[in-house]
Formats: sequence, C-alpha cells, structure tokens
Amino acid sequence: MNKAENTLVPAFEQAMKARLDKDETDRWMQSNAIPYKELMTYYRCALMNVESKFKVLNEEFSLSVDRNPIESIKSRLKTPESILDKMIRNNYPLSIETIEDKLNDIAGVRVICSFKSDIYDLARALGRQDDVTVIKTKDYIADPKPNGYRSLHLVIAVPIFLQNEKRMMKVEVQLRTLAMDMWASIEHKIKYKKNVILTPEDANTLRGCSELSDMLDNRMEELYLKLQ
Ligand code: GTP
Ligand code: MG
Repeated sequence: MNKAENTLVPAFEQAMKARLDKDETDRWMQSNAIPYKELMTYYRCALMNVESKFKVLNEEFSLSVDRNPIESIKSRLKTPESILDKMIRNNYPLSIETIEDKLNDIAGVRVICSFKSDIYDLARALGRQDDVTVIKTKDYIADPKPNGYRSLHLVIAVPIFLQNEKRMMKVEVQLRTLAMDMWASIEHKIKYKKNVILTPEDANTLRGCSELSDMLDNRMEELYLKLQ
C-alpha cells in the first residue's frame, strides 16, 4: 500500500469532521471506512484501465497517421474534501452507495491532444470498444461554456476484473487540445484566487482569450493538414 492509500481514509475523516459534528463523523467512519477505501481502490483500477486504453489508441494511431495524437494523459481521484462537499451541496445522503451512484467524477482522466480532430477521433474509437459504455457526452467544444471553457467531456463505464467479480466503474474523461488546456488551467488559477472578482470587462477578456485559443487550434491544424 502506498502513502496516498494509507492517508485516504484519515483525510476523509478529517474532511467530515470539518463539516459534521464529531459524533456523526465517528459513527460514519466506524461503518464506512473500509467500504470507502475499497471503493477508492476500484476507482484507481478503473483509472488504470482507461489510461491504458488511451495509451493503446495513441500507439495504434501512430501507425496510421505517423504521429501521436496524445500530448499527455493525467489521472486523478477526487479528494475526500471535494467528494464530501459535493455530497453535502447536493443534499445527498452520505452513504458509500450514494457516493458511487451520484458522483460521476470520482475518477477523472484528462487527455491532452494535438488537434481538435484528434479529440473526436479518440472519443469515437473509445466509444466503439465493446467494454466501454458512454453514459454522457458534453461537447463544450461545439458549444463552449459562457465563460469560454472548451473541452469534450465523457462519462463512461468500464469494467474492472477483481478476484471474484467484474465491476463496472464510472470514469469522467476530459479531452482537450493544448490550447484549450492552457486556457482552462489559467482560468482555474484566476477563479480560485480567493479575492478575485471578475468585472464584465475581465470576463470579456477571458472569453476573448478562449476565442483566440480556438483560432490558434484551427490555424495550426489547417497548417498541419496543408503540409501533410
Ligand atoms: P462539477 O459538479 O463541477 O463536476 O460539474 P458538472 O458535473 O456540471 O460537470 P462539467 O462537465 O460542467 O464540469 C466538470 C469538470 O470540467 C470540472 O470539474 C472541471 O475540471 C472542468 N470544468 C468545467 N467547467 C470549467 C470551467 O469553467 N473552467 C475550468 N477551468 N474548468 C472547468
Ligand atoms: Mg467535477
């Protein structure tokens, strides 16, 4: 067991204590600590599965198009704090079953691609795999968020094979170009700085930057196609 796994349950307990009273927290931990740890282990396995699917696609694409469409892949498990925040925010009961049932983004994989067309090619190829179920698609590239956010989001279910059972796990996949990722990373930093309030002008600037990033994506892809 690595350090992150060891500290997972204490971190969740600490997160709960900050939000519930001590008795409630202790009661919850007594009955849920082990199932919580198990569930997070299953999500980690699902992350490995999905990451490996993208690595395989990346290799295979390079045979047909002579380049790798994926610039990088990042995986993350939602922190206990944000799991708890989201459950409380939505008024969901704090059971392990409800956590698994209601939250689609406990396991997240972000795939950064070279070109916009790579995003759709990879999403289609993933969706065609017979052990992948696409539960939800949100195309913030065709239809960016009002603030300018662009990415293709999928919620998929993939199987993990345990000693005695097969279990379907949900994974949130975000596919973006480098330019979209740059915008989202910086916007996130701006937004999460505590005392920053965006004026309408600032919001316009952010939207404008998102449009510039889209122009950059289109120009670079056109150039690439022209020089092929
Ligand atoms: P959450 O409850 O936040 O998960 O939102 P949701 O279930 O409505 O999903 P949505 O597809 O809108 O966003 C999920 C994730 O996409 C977020 O956790 C972020 O990682 C990313 N995301 C969505 N909107 C933005 C945004 O405006 N800016 C940035 N930087 N990231 C965003
Ligand atoms: Mg989320």
